[in-house]
Amino acid sequence: MPIARLAIQNVRNIAEATLELDPGVNLLSGPNGAGKTAALESLHLLFRSRSFRTTRIASVIQREQKHLAVGATLTVDGRAVQAKTLRSRGGAVELYRDGARLKQTSALARLQPIQLLLPSVADLVFGAPAKRREWLDWGVFHVKPDYMRLLRAYSRALSQRNVVLRQGVTGSDLDTWSAPMVSYGEMLTEHRLNYLDSVAYSIRESLRALTETPFELELRLRRGWSDDDLADALGQSLARDVKSGVTHTGPHRADVDVIVDGAAAATTLSRGQGKIVATAMRIGQALALSASAQTLFLIDEVGAELDPGHSAKLFAAMAGLEGQVVATSAQEPRLPSGVDGRVFHVKQGVFS
Ligand SMILES: Nc1ncnc2c1ncn2[C@@H]1O[C@H](COP(=O)(O)OP(=O)(O)O)[C@@H](O)[C@H]1O
Ligand SMILES: [Mg+2]
Repeated sequence: MPIARLAIQNVRNIAEATLELDPGVNLLSGPNGAGKTAALESLHLLFRSRSFRTTRIASVIQREQKHLAVGATLTVDGRAVQAKTLRSRGGAVELYRDGARLKQTSALARLQPIQLLLPSVADLVFGAPAKRREWLDWGVFHVKPDYMRLLRAYSRALSQRNVVLRQGVTGSDLDTWSAPMVSYGEMLTEHRLNYLDSVAYSIRESLRALTETPFELELRLRRGWSDDDLADALGQSLARDVKSGVTHTGPHRADVDVIVDGAAAATTLSRGQGKIVATAMRIGQALALSASAQTLFLIDEVGAELDPGHSAKLFAAMAGLEGQVVATSAQEPRLPSGVDGRVFHVKQGVFS
């Protein structure tokens, strides 16, 4: 579902830009501060409803301006679709599809799956569990239409339970929220387990495509609780939960153990190897999804991401997926040899 045209208004130093994108690889090349990352950020704002750099939208909107706008023309099921987002300093979010206002922020996210490869991609392996939960939830979201609703229902029950805990109340008032936490929590965990099983093969394939010396890679879900069922686990941690006013157990504490050659990846891999594993985890997700949807890859500082040998392999792997790529580079004015696509030169927020 490639994006044919991208229109950006008032995103950081980009006052107004229209890019006719290649359905394959696009390289944004230019000096530091030119607006390359701002262009990636624009696509992320449109399809993920948030920046990947900051939670403060006001800092993304161009100085002196009240709003920003990002629009794109993309193909969905063979038809051209116009997607658009408007954001204002006050925090208001508006999303449109073919001119009609959308209520759900996830509506555009479903339209165009996005994978982000930042220089910090290795955080997926070395960073906090939240990174891996987000990775996992992205995958489930794109294959299970109902998943977002489940996640929201679970979070609602969890935050209500925490409110009740902080009031020092137990008994039936607490059960009112523990019960839906358990039922939604077990359902969403089932989806997570199934997804992780289904994506494992594609991730190993992607790892083989990225490196000559692949590791034996295994991903294992930590559900977020240790007893057989979640209800028992919640019962077990009740005293602790009451004491601190937060729920310590459940799928909001889930993690994915990344295991290479039988040992925890975070403690055995080098930073560079961690980047490769993390990249394989992201490309593998796109590969697993490729029968039903094409993923858009946003790669910031492609040179910093991987060494030249690995970046050539990265482009080859993405070309094999037929996904669309928008990559930036401050050093490289050209695409790697053998890679077709379009190059944009970026200077002071202007693309040519
Ligand atoms: N709110 C803003 N309004 C105007 N300019 C901004 C704003 N925020 C950042 N900038 C400028 O926009 C540019 C954005 O650069 P960036 O996209 O990160 O550059 P690159 O990725 O090409 O190195 C920087 O020069 C920065 O100073
Ligand atoms: Mg940048």
